[in-house]
Amino acid sequence: MSRPVPREAIRILAPYVPGRPIEEVEAEYGIHGAVKLASNENPLGPSPLAIEAGRKAVEEVHLYPDGSGTFLRRALSSRFGVPVDQIILGSGSSELIDLVTRAFAEPGDEIVVPQGIFRMFAVAAGRAGASFVEVPVNEDLTPDLDAMRRRIGDGTRLVAIANPNNPTGAFVRRDELARFVESLPENVLLVLDEAYFEYASGVVDGYPDGLELLAQGRTVLVLRTFSKISGLAGLRIGYGFGPADVVAAINKVREPFNANLVAQAAALAALGDDAHRSRSRDLVVRERDFLFRELSRRVPVRVHPSIGNFLLVDLPPLAEPLDTGFGRRGVIIRPMAGWGFPGSLRVSVGNHAENVKFLEVLDELLGGATAPGVRER
Ligand SMILES: Cc1ncc(COP(=O)(O)O)c(C=O)c1O
Repeated sequence: MSRPVPREAIRILAPYVPGRPIEEVEAEYGIHGAVKLASNENPLGPSPLAIEAGRKAVEEVHLYPDGSGTFLRRALSSRFGVPVDQIILGSGSSELIDLVTRAFAEPGDEIVVPQGIFRMFAVAAGRAGASFVEVPVNEDLTPDLDAMRRRIGDGTRLVAIANPNNPTGAFVRRDELARFVESLPENVLLVLDEAYFEYASGVVDGYPDGLELLAQGRTVLVLRTFSKISGLAGLRIGYGFGPADVVAAINKVREPFNANLVAQAAALAALGDDAHRSRSRDLVVRERDFLFRELSRRVPVRVHPSIGNFLLVDLPPLAEPLDTGFGRRGVIIRPMAGWGFPGSLRVSVGNHAENVKFLEVLDELLGGATAPGVRER
């Protein structure tokens, strides 16, 4: 019996696999009170101002959203000093990764990225039928910018860097990035994914701000999101800043109502919620340090430094598969084998109690003998 066959690019595409919901894991193992440290969400929850605005907006959902995102784009414009025609909204920044790829890459065109980049880039390239060129990274997992530059050729349309990258947590420094951007051919667009910007900016020495490059007239699309720092992952709202012609092209690919009405209202309120943003950042910075310190003390594991709200941890072989071992004990983490890091997990920075629970389960799985107990601060 013959069946409809999707395009070849789609037939061979490995789909993006999201983290598992708490309810599903609890039902599978017959447990309660599981903690989810699998999707780099905000341990503080959403901005309270955003919740209030979202509640009000729900009463208006018989109406279509503002397809131009007028008020939110205006507010982003005045906050970041970027003209409105250089701003685009997305259903999460993930959608913008997809849209920019579809707008700029023909089947067969090349997209050059550092190996291990956030998987949505691979998925977007696959959907577009573009060729995804992963350039080996440095030993410390930072992008090898010289090697990337050498790999860029006539067929290259896009170059992407996630700064910091998920899952490695590694980042490109300001001076290196500036040099790299300057070296790019004029017809190549750099997509600079700054989903975790607020956890690093002003906190980590040498961490760059992509908007400076845009202000200098560089051909860069800077992506940010309300999912992380503002805790609005479930609403799906992200944004991008780029040259007006690049934004205009992406706009043609965009579904007219991609940023939904509740998300726009909540994001607008979240943008004005500096207090929540600071609290989110402070919590993550403090708990990231705590987790990093604790993991560094455990001899059989290797933890990679991260400037995001997650850590990549290499583990020795364990008796149980990572997802089952942690899941059964009430902690949902993300095994990274499917992302090219076999034997590693990614753990999101949670609140203190969640992080302590993760460490306790880790110690149990490591067998206790090699791991010192969790030390309370
Ligand atoms: C590096 C990176 N970019 C983009 C995103 C997408 O975030 P969202 O689509 O929720 O804005 C994520 C989410 O985990 C990420 O890690």
